[in-house]
Amino acid sequence: MFTVSANGANIPALGFGTFRMPDEDVARVLPEALKLGFRHVDTAQIYKNEAAVGDVLAKSGIPRADIFLTTKVWVDRVGHSAFIASVDESLQKLKTDHVDLLLLHWPQSEMPLADRVGALNELVKAGKVKNIGVSNFSTALMAEAVKLSDAPIATNQVEYHPYLSQTKVLNEARKHGMSLTAYYLMADGKVPNDPLLKDIGARHGKTAAQVVLRWAIQQKDVIALSKTATVSRLPENFDVFDFALSLDEMEAIHGLAKPEGRIVNPGHLAPEWDN
Ligand SMILES: NC(=O)c1ccc[n+]([C@@H]2O[C@H](COP(=O)([O-])OP(=O)(O)OC[C@H]3O[C@@H](n4cnc5c(N)ncnc54)[C@H](OP(=O)(O)O)[C@@H]3O)[C@@H](O)[C@H]2O)c1
Repeated sequence: MFTVSANGANIPALGFGTFRMPDEDVARVLPEALKLGFRHVDTAQIYKNEAAVGDVLAKSGIPRADIFLTTKVWVDRVGHSAFIASVDESLQKLKTDHVDLLLLHWPQSEMPLADRVGALNELVKAGKVKNIGVSNFSTALMAEAVKLSDAPIATNQVEYHPYLSQTKVLNEARKHGMSLTAYYLMADGKVPNDPLLKDIGARHGKTAAQVVLRWAIQQKDVIALSKTATVSRLPENFDVFDFALSLDEMEAIHGLAKPEGRIVNPGHLAPEWDN
């Protein structure tokens, strides 16, 4: 496992995602992920599984300092005290006195961005949050958040897979010393069945899923999240550090991007995306 350094944050390049994982799945799968070597765990208030994540981490025996833990504030935490109280509740559920990264989950909220960024900064000063970031932000909103914040912004967590180019977001991130954290890398089941990705995988003795995880982490400043509720898939998803894609293979995978490649686009939450 290697780490991505971004504005002072050292983030393990491969993280275990817990979206759409009810408590039972977290209790069943996360301990196995940790045994395999996953040390970066991604949750969110809206996933409603922070307490289950906290239970597993507390029982794992792994020193807290060895885990990189991320959670995200949901959009309905409006007003300074409600925002801060929601993070205190997250910490309580996660059974820790700090998270390594706290993100604004989506840009749209009735709480102005300046106030939300101000609250993130306050949480950093209080030691409850080591690093701060955003999620689902466009390049314009990234620049705005950077301008509003005293503490550096470590990442923008966005949908990213071979069918969706994120070159603009990645370039903007680099401009500010930030990283890009990729979610939805399996593109809703399309990746594991893609003929080109399977073909590239066959050359390396790897699956299409492994090719795409590798494609993500092989890009400078990119962190990959991977979720599975299927324990037998964990070794597959973790085993992406012992091979490398050639420049031609990287380019061929980038070539799958299409203008209509975006999958996650909830109108009430999303910004005006970069084209
Ligand atoms: N910030 C945001 O707004 C946002 C949005 C979405 C996700 N995220 C984060 O990013 C994480 C990753 O995104 P995601 O949950 O969509 O996960 P993903 O890694 O893209 O994969 C999810 C789907 O692919 C399947 N899968 C996983 N590994 C596979 C493999 N090796 N072969 C075939 N199929 C495989 C999983 O099925 P099974 O589980 O049935 O195995 C699951 O249905 C999330 O868990 C969450 O932490 C953030």
